[in-house]
Amino acid sequence: MRSDGYARSRAASLSRRDFETVRGLVKEHAAIVLEPGKSYLVEARLTPIAQSLRAESLASLVETLRTTPFGSLHARVVDAMTTNETSFFRDLHPFEALRKAIVPEILRRREVERKIHVWCGASSSGQEPYSIAMLLHEHFPQLRDWSVVLIATDISEEMLERARAGRFSRLEVSRGLPAPLLVRYFERAGAEWKLAEEVRRMVTFRTLNLVKPWPPLPPLDLVFLRNVMLYFDLEARREILGRIRRALQPDGYLFLGAAETTLHADDAFERVAVERSWAYRVRRS
Ligand SMILES: C[S@@+](CC[C@H](N)C(=O)[O-])C[C@H]1O[C@@H](n2cnc3c(N)ncnc32)[C@H](O)[C@@H]1O
Repeated sequence: MRSDGYARSRAASLSRRDFETVRGLVKEHAAIVLEPGKSYLVEARLTPIAQSLRAESLASLVETLRTTPFGSLHARVVDAMTTNETSFFRDLHPFEALRKAIVPEILRRREVERKIHVWCGASSSGQEPYSIAMLLHEHFPQLRDWSVVLIATDISEEMLERARAGRFSRLEVSRGLPAPLLVRYFERAGAEWKLAEEVRRMVTFRTLNLVKPWPPLPPLDLVFLRNVMLYFDLEARREILGRIRRALQPDGYLFLGAAETTLHADDAFERVAVERSWAYRVRRS
């Protein structure tokens, strides 16, 4: 570990050109738009990488990015520039909508096929798909003899690895997770809490970059794509919403983050109120 002096004297000196290089890289590979003025953020996120590689300076790290073809260092930098903020049952209302209205509706509509397909498209460290898995396990025991496919994807390998491990810090389980669910589905593992195997194995984690070609997805009943498109420009949002529209079942639901909307990006979606939440459905023409 280098001292803070390293950070101050060498790392915190990103030139405008270096900032533009990183900005171009994350825009091209993840569609994330870094506003001008976010130089401090790039410095903060790249300094640990420069330190771990014993790079001479941030400038030399960025020079390597500039002069070599896209590879593991570039992927690591893109990964470092993602924002991974998440929590269990984030915003609560979408989960209440699932419990009170949407899952009961799916149970009725799919009672013959007995299949339900759910996709979380930016699952970060796993709290969102695991919240859905716990909700299904806890409130819908009849789903145990259904085929329940819960796919969770993210661009960040680091987040996917953490999510697959199903281990959460005390702070993470104190955010949004109701105490009875903590008691029922987690056990202490040193300083962490380990999620029960029966919930962990309900979720399959995969790498998926939303702005690159997607691997095949099954016809989806439910899509959670929350708090990720707000980092993208309109063109990327439009493209992603179009692909979701084609992947959704005609009676499927899309949930976006509280600050996100399909409005002006894809008018083929309509916003519907479900309990105390908003969801999106493909308009019937
Ligand atoms: C703020 S978190 C949201 C997590 C969760 N959906 C929630 O609402 O709590 C955003 C996630 O989007 C992922 N992400 C960013 N750009 C992406 C891209 N181009 N493709 C797939 N995932 C991306 C990040 O790695 C991060 O884990």
